[in-house]
Amino acid sequence: MKIKIGLLGYGKTGRVVAQNLRSDKRFALVFVAKNKVTKPDEFDFVVKSKEFIGELVNRFEPDVVVDLTTPDAVMLNINTLPEKTSYIIATTGFTDVQINKIKEYDHLKVLYAANISDGINVVIKACELLNQIWNHADVEIVEQHFKDKKDSPSSTAKKIAKAFNRKVPIHSIRAGGIVGIHEIILATNNQKITLKHESFNKDVFAEGVKRAAIWLMNKECGFYEIDEVYHY
Ligand SMILES: NC(=O)c1ccc[n+]([C@@H]2O[C@H](COP(=O)([O-])OP(=O)(O)OC[C@H]3O[C@@H](n4cnc5c(N)ncnc54)[C@H](OP(=O)(O)O)[C@@H]3O)[C@@H](O)[C@H]2O)c1
Repeated sequence: MKIKIGLLGYGKTGRVVAQNLRSDKRFALVFVAKNKVTKPDEFDFVVKSKEFIGELVNRFEPDVVVDLTTPDAVMLNINTLPEKTSYIIATTGFTDVQINKIKEYDHLKVLYAANISDGINVVIKACELLNQIWNHADVEIVEQHFKDKKDSPSSTAKKIAKAFNRKVPIHSIRAGGIVGIHEIILATNNQKITLKHESFNKDVFAEGVKRAAIWLMNKECGFYEIDEVYHY
């Protein structure tokens, strides 16, 4: 049985995720909801929708809905989802108030993924360990992304910073077409450890979406975060 995915958002990342899902026999992309349809495109099942996400879910019965839109769109989309919908929020840039509001939707299975690439989640686990066994080091994060990225610092950098129980300055660079680089520097007076994660392309997000979807499908209703998918 294929895992049925409904995708909200068909921008730079949504397009890559859609193509990746279509080329994987384990998955069926049952709908793609766009904000506006300006011209015909290669997906004949693209649906023009903003207000009717709940109707789409009832009609196509996806196992998991994946959101790659905007924070404001998520706050609307989440209202329309039927009970027990598995909903992966890979959209980023939320305020704390918005995240707290999302947590109130306890009739859904919500998985919030500030960064859904598996390498980043492994790096966060490594940072948690470093925090425990090298807790006297200074820690700083340098993150680099493409110049039009809306949020700065990246939600991923903020999430990495939370792995440490001390203040972690974040330095953001926005330039050209950099997909995403996160560098974590830990230094004492005499030595330095650097962890660096670099995404080569946006397929890392598709791979993460698939892993997260398989994990979320059989969970109870509630709010989950991506680090729960990765444990050691
Ligand atoms: N968690 C992760 O690992 C991860 C990875 C990559 C990206 N992201 C996040 O995912 C989001 C999308 O990224 P992106 O690079 O694809 O940005 P993007 O190119 O700006 O795409 C966003 C898309 O969402 C569409 N949209 C807006 N409101 C919508 C709605 N109500 N229903 C359906 N579609 C709607 C927009 O359509 P219009 O242009 O027509 O308004 C646009 O095509 C961002 O928040 C980004 O930070 C997260």
